[in-house]
Amino acid sequence: MYIKNLRINERRLQDAMEEMAKIGATPGGGVQRLALSDEDRQARDLFVKWLREMDLEVMIDGMGNIFGKRPGRNNDLAPVMTGSHIDSQPKGGRFDGILGVVGALEALRTIHGNRIETERPIIIVDWTNEEGTRFAPPMLGSGVWTEKLEKDWVYNRADIHGKKFGEELDRIGYMGKLPVKKWPVHAYYEYHIEQGPVLEREGKVIGAPKGIVCIHWDDVYVKGTANQVGPTPMEGRNDALCASAEMILKVNELPEKMDGNMVATVGEIHNYPNSRNIIPDKAHFTVDIRSWDDELVTRAWEEVRKDFDAIAERRGCPIRIEETWKVKHTPFDEKLVKRVLETADQLGYLNRPMVSGAGHDASYISMVAPTAMIFVPSIGGRSHVEVENTRWEDCEAGANVLLHCILQSALEK
Ligand code: HGY
Ligand code: MN
Ligand code: MN
Repeated sequence: MYIKNLRINERRLQDAMEEMAKIGATPGGGVQRLALSDEDRQARDLFVKWLREMDLEVMIDGMGNIFGKRPGRNNDLAPVMTGSHIDSQPKGGRFDGILGVVGALEALRTIHGNRIETERPIIIVDWTNEEGTRFAPPMLGSGVWTEKLEKDWVYNRADIHGKKFGEELDRIGYMGKLPVKKWPVHAYYEYHIEQGPVLEREGKVIGAPKGIVCIHWDDVYVKGTANQVGPTPMEGRNDALCASAEMILKVNELPEKMDGNMVATVGEIHNYPNSRNIIPDKAHFTVDIRSWDDELVTRAWEEVRKDFDAIAERRGCPIRIEETWKVKHTPFDEKLVKRVLETADQLGYLNRPMVSGAGHDASYISMVAPTAMIFVPSIGGRSHVEVENTRWEDCEAGANVLLHCILQSALEK
């Protein structure tokens, strides 16, 4: 019974979140901690310091994934794992990812502080490069750890300035010695903000995603002919930016055209030489298509490819396409999802099952271990923005559900 009444320390959770939010703080009240940046390193150093203060065994692998291990009665048993990511979007929010890392830390601090001995070891983790905004594709740390991605291929991924992943990981001092190799996991829980409007709209505190949508990322490179904007007649131009603009609108029109439950977005575009008096001869933009229905995403991509080819032909702007990342929709472990909902009920938090439209490391982990996530509301449904916010009492609620899910799994023989 004693354990049932256990609750996290909300003040300590909030203090840790506020300390992390100072690292990479932006003037608009958000954070910028791009993967493998100096800000990422500072936040990692703080996380490692906190792990060491709890006498956890700290392990860092060749992808910079940081693990903090607390032994259980029987360390031969597969551990319970929980965590998320420290890296952020450019001008991102103070909760995305970091709430799952600090929430896991707070759950462990509560277990440790109450001298609770669990059957199984517990490991908390920070996965490297979840966002994929600096180094695409996303979830590279968990992708290599689950052996779905190849480490050397990842080391060679470059950011927009040509900086290589492997070199940057080494530069910040987080290219650990531990081989990047999965181990058996009894249960993985990831605590995260919803990043959407559903929980707030329905007045619910806890969301339990049944899984994560299918996500396709493609990069489109458009080639044109540069020339002086003045003397060159409109007729016969090969304007790479105008061709891209038409293609981008076709992406935006896709969900309506496919008449399906999906989203399609172009979030990033680069234009060259990007001078006001030169007709652009190169453009590069990204395509992000998502749906629970994998087949719909495939059909949508085929459809918009036809539009791209027709526009490229008509404007004399050939295109090259890189299929950057594809992950099928990933269903979570039904038993663990049910445990999240039942635990929320027992703790008195209104809750509901749902689907995650955002990608998470849990999508890779769920391919190798029983996995579930715990969502709390995003105020105004906003995320990946500086105004991203979640009420502290909701952060506390999510961390309490996480604490009790971890304990239930870690006390299992
Ligand atoms: O793209 C996503 O949904 C995640 O933020 N990486
Ligand atoms: Mn995230
Ligand atoms: Mn994110």
